[in-house]
Amino acid sequence: MSGELSPIDKAKFLAAKRAVDFVEDGMRVGLGTGSTAAWMVRLLGERVREEGLKIAGVPTSTRTAELARDMGIRVISLDEAKWLDLTIDGADEVDGDLNLVKGGGGALLQEKIVATASDRMVVIADAAKEVEALGAFPLPVEVIPFGWQTTQALVEEMLISMDVLGRDTTLRMNGGAPYVTDEGNHILDLHLNRIGNARELALVMNQIPGVVENGLFIDICDTLVIGHGSGRVETRDINDGTVEDMRLDFVEDDNLFRDLSD
Ligand code: A5P
Repeated sequence: MSGELSPIDKAKFLAAKRAVDFVEDGMRVGLGTGSTAAWMVRLLGERVREEGLKIAGVPTSTRTAELARDMGIRVISLDEAKWLDLTIDGADEVDGDLNLVKGGGGALLQEKIVATASDRMVVIADAAKEVEALGAFPLPVEVIPFGWQTTQALVEEMLISMDVLGRDTTLRMNGGAPYVTDEGNHILDLHLNRIGNARELALVMNQIPGVVENGLFIDICDTLVIGHGSGRVETRDINDGTVEDMRLDFVEDDNLFRDLSD
C-alpha cells in the first residue's frame, strides 16, 4: 500500500507520525484540518486503540470531527475543553519564524481559535510548505456573507498601502456557488505573491468590519515538524531553539490506509 503514496504524502504521514508522539495521556488536543492533519488524526486514533491512550480531541472542522469519531477519539467541544494542552495542524506555508498561512482547506477560523487556545501548537508539513517569505499561496480571508463585495472592495483598497507584490482577490467558489465555511461565511483568496510585513497585514486586515479572520498565523506556532519523502523528519522548536533531525521508517498499516478520502 505504501508504494501507492506519493513522496509528498509519505512526507505528510511521517511529519504526523512524529507529532503524535507529543501527545500524552490525559491531554486535551486540538485536531487540525487538511490532508496532513488527517494523517495525524488516524495515527492518534491508532494510539488510542492500541495503547489505550486517554485523550479528548477538539476538532477544527466538521470533517475532522467526523474522522476523529471514526478513529475512536473522544471528541469534545472547545467550550467543554476551555483550554488545550496541544494542537496539531497542517499549514499551507511556513516561514523561518514559524509564521504561517493557513485556510487552504477553508477551516482557518476554527483553526485559529483552537490553536490560540492551546499551550502549544505543533505544525506538521511536507518540505514544500517551507518558504522564505509568505504569500505565494493565496491568503484566505474569512468574510461575512452580508455585503461581501463591499468587504472585498475595502480589502483591495487596504492592500494598496501594504507591502505586497500582488493585489488580486477572488471569492472562493464551490462548484457554481460561493464556498461556505463551517461558520456560514465566505472566503476571499488574496493573490499577494509576496507579503513583506505579515504581522502588519494580519492586524490591519482584521480592522475591516466584514472580515471575520485572516489566514495569517503570527506567533502562534511553537513547533514545526517537517517530513521528507526520504524518511527524514526535522523538528524545530521556536521557544527553546532546538532542532532535531531523525529518520522514521514508513511502515505499512492496513487499518491506517483504508478509506483515505480526505
Ligand atoms: C485547512 O483550512 C488548512 O489550514 C490546512 O491546514 C492547510 O490547508 C494544509 O492542508 P494540507 O495538509 O492538506 O496541505
